[in-house]
Amino acid sequence: MRFSSVCSVLALCASLAEASPSHGKPKIPARPVLTPAPYNSGKEFPRSAPRSKNKKCFVKPGKGDDRDDAARIKTALKKCNNGGTVILDQSYLVSSPLDLTFLKHVDVVITGEIHFNAKDVYYWASNSFKYDFQNMSTFWKWGGKDVNIYGDLSNGKSVIDGHGQAYWEEIVTNKTLLRPILFSIDGLKGGSMSNLRMRNSPNWFNIIANSSDIIISDLDIQAKSTGGVKIANSDGWDTYRSDNVVIQNSFVDNTDDCVSFKPNSTNVIVQNLNCIGSHGISVGSLGQYANLTDIVENLYVYNITMTNASDFARIKVWPGVQSSFQELLNGGGGLGYVRNVTYDTLHSINNDRAITITQCYGQKNQTLCQEFPANLTIEDVTIRNMWGTTSLSTDPEAGTLICSAPDRCSNIRVENITIDVPSGNTTEWECANIDESLLDINCVPTDGDRDTTNG
Ligand SMILES: *[C@@H]1O[C@H](CO)[C@@H](O)[C@H](O)[C@H]1NC(C)=O
Ligand SMILES: *[C@@H]1O[C@H](CO)[C@@H](O)[C@H](O)[C@H]1NC(C)=O
Ligand SMILES: *[C@@H]1O[C@H](CO)[C@@H](O)[C@H](O)[C@H]1NC(C)=O
Ligand SMILES: *[C@@H]1O[C@H](CO)[C@@H](O)[C@H](O)[C@H]1NC(C)=O
Ligand SMILES: *[C@@H]1O[C@H](CO)[C@@H](O)[C@H](O)[C@H]1NC(C)=O
Ligand SMILES: *[C@@H]1O[C@H](CO)[C@@H](O)[C@H](O)[C@H]1NC(C)=O
Ligand SMILES: *[C@@H]1O[C@H](CO)[C@@H](O)[C@H](O)[C@H]1NC(C)=O
Ligand SMILES: *[C@@H]1O[C@H](CO)[C@@H](O)[C@H](O)[C@H]1NC(C)=O
Ligand SMILES: *[C@@H]1O[C@H](CO)[C@@H](O)[C@H](O)[C@H]1NC(C)=O
Ligand SMILES: *[C@@H]1O[C@H](CO)[C@@H](O)[C@H](O)[C@H]1NC(C)=O
Ligand SMILES: *[C@@H]1O[C@H](CO)[C@@H](O)[C@H](O)[C@H]1NC(C)=O
Ligand SMILES: *[C@@H]1O[C@H](CO)[C@@H](O)[C@H](O)[C@H]1NC(C)=O
Repeated sequence: MRFSSVCSVLALCASLAEASPSHGKPKIPARPVLTPAPYNSGKEFPRSAPRSKNKKCFVKPGKGDDRDDAARIKTALKKCNNGGTVILDQSYLVSSPLDLTFLKHVDVVITGEIHFNAKDVYYWASNSFKYDFQNMSTFWKWGGKDVNIYGDLSNGKSVIDGHGQAYWEEIVTNKTLLRPILFSIDGLKGGSMSNLRMRNSPNWFNIIANSSDIIISDLDIQAKSTGGVKIANSDGWDTYRSDNVVIQNSFVDNTDDCVSFKPNSTNVIVQNLNCIGSHGISVGSLGQYANLTDIVENLYVYNITMTNASDFARIKVWPGVQSSFQELLNGGGGLGYVRNVTYDTLHSINNDRAITITQCYGQKNQTLCQEFPANLTIEDVTIRNMWGTTSLSTDPEAGTLICSAPDRCSNIRVENITIDVPSGNTTEWECANIDESLLDINCVPTDGDRDTTNG
């Protein structure tokens, strides 16, 4: 059926998508105008034409506590694809995986609530979309061309909820339980996501993979558990095999990386973020897979406030040899480089380490790292204009900058850093195999006693 031509009259379109009668004149927020600011990657974003006023698909949820609204959502996206707008303004329960990689020139308004059914975490372990990289799996995947997904933060809803609690409880007894990522952008050329709340992802909140020209703005991301259960792997965003991505103006309260640049992330801007409780803004981990080439190039990270995190500005690279780390995370021996990365304007509040550079990620045995230096080099990195405090945890140290051999790192610069440690003593930084003449900090020799196993 040619939905696009059928669905050209509002009334007909709405009835096709089973709109509820209560939708007299629903208010649909206008698509936000998103401009990368103050920085951009220098690459232009393709223009996204306004959507047709006459092509709107409201999605009516089904009935019952254990229903599945997946098919209704997919049907609406098919009907309003190619120039329309899909409106998700009620409460939906998604109980089966959704492949939404067929999208083209469509807007998706989420002013309601999308919940992922957590009644059977093993259902998702079996039925989620699977990827080789770091055992990733996802509830749904969004891809195609020119897709804008947005909500309205002022309405109290506009939420995507992964109900992570059930998974975090289960991994206490089953560490290898496969847990889905809450939102997956996979193969999207041109698109945006803005003004949304995301809650309690079983795993990372967002993966942006195989994509280009993506703007993310005004997201409010939070992971909270009850009963003291440990929250696992709640990364805010991971970028992977993606180019020209901007992530800005957002809030993240989680327990793992706030943003993480995974293999082949290029021309990425991250700016104006407030991150709490995380593992920092992290390049990597990289070099995890032996003989594969990982490239991370042209990053600008600007104006970040980081509070109560393990790390702030962070680059993590696996050693030059394969080694075991955690049940679901092993590796080393990868190739490639990190190049042209700037961290600028960084407010550090009570983080364990303000700067962490390691080429011995996932390996407690430093001797082994020296014997097998990382094959993945780190070049042209600047960290500047950072102020604030670190926590008691490594006082009087505030960070570590350790390359595995002198020829594996070059042109790493650290400038204008004012970090105070709680004791009030002179702040120290552990440095090794790095050109200290480019580091405007108080370097001390490494004592070899480091924990690089943190997420
Ligand atoms: C753990 O979860 C995985 C699914 O991700 C499953 O294959 C495996 O059997 C589970 N292990 C145990 C001990 O239940
Ligand atoms: C990205 O594209 C590759 C190649 O087409 C595919 O194998 C992979 O599943 C896609 N998604 C991710 C997350 O890697
Ligand atoms: C920095 O980001 C915060 C949001 O976290 C914003 O309120 C502030 O205006 C930004 N400052 C600059 C200089 O861009
Ligand atoms: C990586 O390449 C080296 C040299 O070609 C080879 O000996 C080794 O087996 C490869 N490792 C893997 C995991 O493919
Ligand atoms: C990254 O890009 C390089 C260069 O194009 C390519 O050789 C490599 O296979 C890519 N790596 C991944 C993990 O996609
Ligand atoms: C370094 O990366 C930034 C941010 O993407 C970019 O603006 C700049 O042009 C890059 N510099 C070089 C020399 O490629
Ligand atoms: C950071 O941690 C301290 C000590 O636990 C706590 O008092 C404070 O509220 C936390 N800050 C934020 C922004 O959560
Ligand atoms: C993926 O998970 C399996 C166990 O389920 C584990 O053996 C393997 O090392 C994991 N792969 C990676 C790359 O972490
Ligand atoms: C650390 O690595 C070195 C070099 O491979 C090895 O000789 C040593 O036994 C390792 N130490 C431990 C505690 O595994
Ligand atoms: C990777 O590094 C190891 C040890 O540093 C070295 O033996 C090996 O030849 C390197 N591999 C490549 C492909 O450069
Ligand atoms: C140094 O960083 C501070 C923020 O801590 C900033 O206000 C100041 O302008 C920076 N100085 C220079 C010379 O860039
Ligand atoms: C701070 O310096 C004082 C005096 O040198 C010393 O006694 C104390 O142990 C130091 N505290 C820390 C946390 O390094």
